[in-house]
Amino acid sequence: MQYNSKQTGIATMKPLTAWLSVALALTAHLSHARYSSPNFNKGGFGPWHPSSRGRPIPLPRVYQTAESTLRIDPRSFHFNIIENECETLQDAVKRYKTLIFKPANFKPCKNVEATCDGGDCLKQIDIHLQSPCEEWPPVRMDEKYLLQLNTDKAKGGATLSASSIWGILRGLETFSQIVHYHDCQFLVNTTFIEDWPRFPWRGLLLDTSRHFLPKTTIFETLDLMAMNKLNVFHWHIVDDNSFPYESARFPFLSKSGSYGQELVYTRKDLKDILEYARRRGIRVVPEFDTPGHTQSWGRDLPGFLTPCGAGNSWAAKEDLPEYGPIDPSREENYAFLWKFFGEVLETFPDQFLHLGGDEVDFRCWSMDENIRNFMKKHNISDYEGLEGYYFRRLLKLLDDISSKKKNYMVWQEVFDNQVPLDPDAVVQIWKEKWENDMAQVTLAGNPALLSSCWYLDYISYGTDWEEYYKCDPENFPGTPAQKRLVLGGEVCMWGEFTDSTNVHSRLWPRGSVAAERLWSAREAQDGDFLASRMNEHRCRLRRRGFPAQPINGPDFCEHLKAP
Ligand SMILES: *[C@@H]1O[C@H](CO)[C@@H](O)[C@H](O)[C@H]1NC(C)=O
Ligand SMILES: *[C@@H]1O[C@H](CO)[C@@H](O)[C@H](O)[C@H]1NC(C)=O
Repeated sequence: MQYNSKQTGIATMKPLTAWLSVALALTAHLSHARYSSPNFNKGGFGPWHPSSRGRPIPLPRVYQTAESTLRIDPRSFHFNIIENECETLQDAVKRYKTLIFKPANFKPCKNVEATCDGGDCLKQIDIHLQSPCEEWPPVRMDEKYLLQLNTDKAKGGATLSASSIWGILRGLETFSQIVHYHDCQFLVNTTFIEDWPRFPWRGLLLDTSRHFLPKTTIFETLDLMAMNKLNVFHWHIVDDNSFPYESARFPFLSKSGSYGQELVYTRKDLKDILEYARRRGIRVVPEFDTPGHTQSWGRDLPGFLTPCGAGNSWAAKEDLPEYGPIDPSREENYAFLWKFFGEVLETFPDQFLHLGGDEVDFRCWSMDENIRNFMKKHNISDYEGLEGYYFRRLLKLLDDISSKKKNYMVWQEVFDNQVPLDPDAVVQIWKEKWENDMAQVTLAGNPALLSSCWYLDYISYGTDWEEYYKCDPENFPGTPAQKRLVLGGEVCMWGEFTDSTNVHSRLWPRGSVAAERLWSAREAQDGDFLASRMNEHRCRLRRRGFPAQPINGPDFCEHLKAP
């Protein structure tokens, strides 16, 4: 048995749970099944991995269910807010009532009168929010919650409690997942859940430069993130290919750098997206990647980019672009960046800003005579050193701009190139053989985020999620102090081959695997158990109207309006 109480707490009897009798069917027994790798010769009838019924993903930390089911009458059930309240909470309660009882693509049974007034009815849940709502979710938002469902007031009754609004949001999601529709009625088992995330930073990167993603697709992604308890939207908003961010100070950037006038996030869109995320307890961390990946910035910004040896035969042979990274030798460029980032810091309320720094193409710098002279003058001996110079200037000017201190994150190259970073600068690891990188970054004392294992833009035939589940951001050689510097991880969905037609199906439910690794106990390792919950979750997402793809072989989803 993999889920013993020592390892995961699933079967831990806390004083609070004394009401649960020994007859409880602890979830542990489900993990007896041995998980086997995908087997394409299975044949026969589907499904290969039968869906669970009323089980949540990610797996809660303390999770006890009894073999007694409560019935719910959707017409009379209500959430009873009895302590603090705020618009975010009212909005969430309304949203979850729809998600539970009337999701967009749900087809209930015909002509079933599901009245319920006996002792086995769950009529309401008391919501105890123990402190006033915070407006914006902070970096270490408090997401802990307690959910108990039984019909006996003396045993706690049916309550959802948390010290912060973010915990209530996570608890509502869990409740919406354990309620299930079976035999033409809404059911939920007697349950005790005490839950909190393993890592504070559970992110998802969307790239809106390679392909523009409409605002609605971003809203849907935020909904799907909330449905998987991911809490950081890493918005890789601009890149070489297009510049869809509408700058208030420099509107020409998106006019000349976007794919088209419609393919831009207006100032209003930006506000709407921030608000949509806030209401779901999701931070928005924008990334303005420099000094590489900046082709789209430069069309109307003469001198910003390094001309890349036009007409030079070596450049032609090397297939170099017309322009390379930002020219770090020109003072005017720092003046522009000062103004531009000043606006960015005002636009996005999060404590963190991602500064990129990956894959700087040194070849273009090396071809430029001005830059070579500049390096001589400044005693810079190599291009790593030049990138270091650029970052030192950038970090200095950012410090000068912001009245309140902001934190920065960078891709690992900035660290690898030995740019001196603030001790609280987060380094995002994306390259393969990441164990050593995580060790180096944390040894230097910087917080680290892992993405290497979760590049979900890569696909393959069959199931490819086992590796995502095996990946654990703490599995690298290092001291406990180093492990404490692991903030979490991020799923990456680069946009070369995705747009609004396929981004959701490519992300879900594959992303749920990383979401579980980042939220649930380290000991959650049972792939069969996960597979059954993933199948249920995929169908849940489909009933909610999202095109989540099949993931564990042949199966089908019940109660879909449009199968
Ligand atoms: C809920 O209770 C039913 C029996 O009423 C049992 O068959 C089922 O396994 C239980 N489900 C969970 C999630 O505990
Ligand atoms: C440049 O670096 C060399 C070797 O590190 C040093 O001897 C020299 O003084 C430096 N020159 C300037 C102008 O900083």
